[in-house]
Amino acid sequence: MNSFGTLFRIQLFGESHGEAIGVVIDGIPAGLPLSAEDFQKDLNRRKGGSLGTTPRVEEEQLEFLSGLFNGKTNGNPLAIVVKNRNIISSDYDLHCQIPRPGHADLTSNVKHCGFQDYRGGGHHSGRVTLALVLAGVVAKKILAPIVIDTEIIHIGGENPWNQKLKEAIEEGDSLGGLIECRIRKLSAGIGEPFFNSMESMLSHIIFSIPGIRGIEFGDGFRATEMKGSEHNDPIVSADGTTSRNGAGGINGGISNGNEIIFRTAVKPTASIAKEQESFNFKTEKNEKFNIGGRHDACFALRTPVVIEAAAAIALADLLLQASQV
Ligand SMILES: Cc1cc2nc3c(=O)[nH]c(=O)nc-3n(C[C@H](O)[C@H](O)[C@H](O)COP(=O)(O)O)c2cc1C
Repeated sequence: MNSFGTLFRIQLFGESHGEAIGVVIDGIPAGLPLSAEDFQKDLNRRKGGSLGTTPRVEEEQLEFLSGLFNGKTNGNPLAIVVKNRNIISSDYDLHCQIPRPGHADLTSNVKHCGFQDYRGGGHHSGRVTLALVLAGVVAKKILAPIVIDTEIIHIGGENPWNQKLKEAIEEGDSLGGLIECRIRKLSAGIGEPFFNSMESMLSHIIFSIPGIRGIEFGDGFRATEMKGSEHNDPIVSADGTTSRNGAGGINGGISNGNEIIFRTAVKPTASIAKEQESFNFKTEKNEKFNIGGRHDACFALRTPVVIEAAAAIALADLLLQASQV
């Protein structure tokens, strides 16, 4: 499904080499000032063009189709469309025959019975995260003064990572990375257990981002090797402040008033320049092949802003459910 959220509800659409990428956002309070300039900073952060990212750089002209009147949201669904222009589709014909290992070519073909738009990875392309970033900008506005920050902890296990990245690119290979997200100034009491707990909502939307391999909150998987006395967060004041934050700011699926901290594991890009082997469905043989097209050697470098957007969307929905915005 391509919709997420209950009260702040987004519906995204588009394919990498289709007409456009877009999002429809329902539940935005009326009267929120909004203009194309508000989106520019986050759109720039998602763009490629730097070392280790795709050479496909789009202009990204926003078209507001609905929901905006005289520079303010009008309470109706906000519909934003961005046309795809910088498209080279011929590179992808091969992947109908030889699906890329690690990509969605095979699974999408099976699920959609061969009717899928395979060009540029279609709906499974990182390009579709543009829609998340658009919705994230609106969500962040609703959330203010709550602040969401992300930081790359490492790329391919290294920080600084430039040398390792250059080596991977020279080898025609790719790298993944670990991204930490911190949410500050969120009050205690937000989250709708059982199924819409804070962790469930964040994990649900984070795992919707293509290429995510894991998420952990606070001490995360390290908690399995800790004692309760080490993992427990001592409460040191009446507002619930704790002296450590192994829970990542969440207890019982509800924010506890401390920083929410989670880390997201991003996989190495599937589409590598190196020669690979896959099953050719036409010749019915295993064959060596090379991937064409323009790819991020390390899309983790472009993902921090996508994670921020996803977190903002989930939080906006939970806050509206708690009637706190
Ligand atoms: C911002 C962003 C950019 C991406 N760029 C690429 C890319 O250039 N090449 C590629 O093979 N995968 C890229 N991906 C990952 C694929 O979209 C993803 O691996 C694919 O849809 C299969 O999904 P899965 O990895 O979750 O199984 C990107 C993902 C994101 C979030």
